[in-house]
Formats: sequence, structure tokens, C-alpha cells
Amino acid sequence: MSKINVGIIGFGTVGAGVVEVLTANREIIANRVGSEVAIQRIADLDLESDRGVAMDRDLLTRDAVEVINDPDIQIVVELMGGLDKAREFILRAMAQKKHVVTANKALLAEHGKEIFDAAREYGVTLGFEASVGGGIPIIGALKNGLSANHIHNCMGILNGTSNYILTRMTQDGLPYARVVQDAVDLGFAEDPPTLDVDGTDAAHKLTIITSMAFGEPIPFDAVYREGITALTPDDIRYAGEFGYSVKLLAITKELGDKVEARVHPAMIPKDHILANVNEAFNAIYIEGDFVGPNLYYGLGAGRKPTGSAVCSDIISLARRIHSGASGAIPALGYMRPPQAHIQVQPMDALTTPYYFRFSALDSPGVLSKISGILADYRISIASVMQKGREKKGSVPIVTLTHEAVEQDVQRAIALIDDLPVVTDRTVVIRVEDSPL
Ligand code: HSE
Repeated sequence: MSKINVGIIGFGTVGAGVVEVLTANREIIANRVGSEVAIQRIADLDLESDRGVAMDRDLLTRDAVEVINDPDIQIVVELMGGLDKAREFILRAMAQKKHVVTANKALLAEHGKEIFDAAREYGVTLGFEASVGGGIPIIGALKNGLSANHIHNCMGILNGTSNYILTRMTQDGLPYARVVQDAVDLGFAEDPPTLDVDGTDAAHKLTIITSMAFGEPIPFDAVYREGITALTPDDIRYAGEFGYSVKLLAITKELGDKVEARVHPAMIPKDHILANVNEAFNAIYIEGDFVGPNLYYGLGAGRKPTGSAVCSDIISLARRIHSGASGAIPALGYMRPPQAHIQVQPMDALTTPYYFRFSALDSPGVLSKISGILADYRISIASVMQKGREKKGSVPIVTLTHEAVEQDVQRAIALIDDLPVVTDRTVVIRVEDSPL
């Protein structure tokens, strides 16, 4: 049988997962490809640690360039992470006409254009299924299964660490600080976990999804991001009393000639399908104009699911090599970029309902001062609950609004927080009421 050779740069958790999949499923992969898919070389600076996978140690090298330059290697798999070196190795591999597979979401979100352009220039294909949603085949879905559609909107739980933390806060009433270390110990957090809990990891993934959905790379900086560190179990409980769950959502929506792209904690109705995605699971809900609603659910991290996703790219490339297919598949799945450039709508223009928790003195006239400022900024209250006294003289006043504009909300809240009767910063959570 003919053989297609793979070189791996980076032998950490995901690298070991890839070796495990290619070894354990060698026969079914060879049957699906028509050629054997073999690991030819693995580069990592650490050659000593036991990765828990059976392999020929002679394949190991400390030198990534050896992998790139090996004339027998047709597919280079970058799993080292980080930006500068990974970028350099990927560009070098492409310049040598090697197809590349990567799981590096930060690199694609922050330097995607350069890498996609290089793939086009050198006529090679870039696979990045593992960069979003771990084992969930969302990149393949956008590139192939949904390719006949205009994508109208996409809403995802894209960070397992945050989802795990929010699940514990919701189900056990524990504060953020008590559960964050558990999430790190479970092994799916980034290093450091700041990138998970401040929304950066989900924003990297949303940048990739938005670029694929609308056909050109969007700048990472245009994606609004806000994390979960300021959320309290009280807010999660009050949201529950209004009929909502709190999730860290990554949202992109088509709005005429603009798109929304934002990551932040959001309240969604408890019967929304994403409200029931718990623990470290990821899920992505997508609506296309012909296909209607689609939902993808699975493990968004971990050696085996992510190894499975990387191998799906290797297999798809190996099939093309085996069949002698010519021409590369463009990274975003568009042979021609869209005629009009996509623009990300500034966050200030977002229009959505809001949840506010004011902390204020429990004395006459306080509510009217707050509601007066809200009225000045065209923010209409849908319901209010005053909870029991928490500190001496201070009460939480919990409010849901009708649709309001983000810029008005930020201005109104700044004025409200300056009122002498307001004792703490107001908590603001956006409400995502769109139908399932
Ligand atoms: N740290 C990520 C998460 C997994 O918690 O979802 C890798 O993307």
C-alpha cells in the first residue's frame, strides 16, 4: 500500500492524542484514505517526558526545521501553540509546498490573513478543524455541510473552562473563586486560565467562525470580549428567578452589511437548547437561510477529541494526495472573496434587553433617581425585583429592561454608579432572547 507521511511539531497533550488516534485507528484510516498514513517525525523540545502513547522514539527530534525540510513529509502538523515560532514554522512549511494542519486558534485569529494568503500563494491546503470546539466538526460543517447557505447567525458556548465554572456556580451556588481552580485541575484550561475566563479563548474561536461564515478574515480586535470573573452566584440565582440561565456566549449575526461579533456572559431562556449545555461541553447553534437551525454539541477540549479533529484534517488532506487532486481548498472555503467587505458593528450600537443589579440604599426616592436616569437614556424597565437587605442599609435592586442601546446603557450606568445613594458598581448582563 502507498504511504502518506505526516510530521508533527509539538508533542504535548494534543500531539500525543494525534499519535494515539493514528496508531489505534491505523487500519480504518488507511481504508478510508486508500493509503497508509504514517508519522514520519515528531519535533518537541522535551524528548524525555512520557506522553502515555506507544511510539518509536527514533521519530523524535528537537528540531522543527528537520520536520519541515524532510522531503518525505507531505503534511506538517503544528501543535506547539504560541504565536511567533508557530507562525514561522507554518509559513516555512507552506513555502516548501507542504500542506499544514494546525489547532492554533490564537494564531489563526490574530494572524489568519497572512497564513491564509500564504496557503493560497503556495497552493497548499490549511486544515484547522481542531482550532474551534475541540472534537466538534464545526469547521468542516461551515466549509462543506453548510456551504450552500448564507449564515444568518451563530451562537456558541466555545469555552469549556468557563462553562464548567458557570455550571458549578449555578448548580452548587459557589462563588467564582471557589471553582476556578477545579476547572484548571481538570485539565482543559489554557495556560494561563486567564484566557479562558476573560473571554479571549472564545473570542479567538469566534473570530475564526465569523471569518468562515462571512468569507474574509475579520480583525481579532474587532471582536468584543468580556469574561465571567465579575459574575456572582446571586446574579445567576436572580437570573434564574426571571427564567434565565447565564452562559458565556460567543455570538455572530448578520446585520445587513455589518456583522456582530461579541463574547460576553449572557442570559438565555432556561428552555433554550444552549442553556442545557453544561460542564465542560461546547455547543454551537447556527442558522442558515436554507438549512434552518443546526446544533453541534460535544467535547471542546482534551487529548482524544482534539486529536480526533486534527486527524480529520490529516485524513482529508491524505485523501486528496492519494487521489492526486490538484488545486488547494481555500482556508475559509471561498474561492472568491465576497464582493463587499464585512464590517464588524461596534459594540456601542448593540441593541438588546439588559439585566441590571443595582446596589443602593433602602430609602425613599432611590428607585426614582435610578429610573429617572434610565428614562433619560431611553431605557425602559420591563420588571423590577427588590431583594432583602444584604449590607447595612443597602439592597440589591434587580431589573430587566426592554431593548436598549449599549452606548445608552453604559452612559446611564456610569451616572447611576456616581449617585451617592448607590453603594456598589452596578452589574450588567446582556439578555439574548432570540428564539432557539
Ligand atoms: N481551554 C479551552 C476551553 C480548550 O476551556 O475550552 C481549548 O480550546
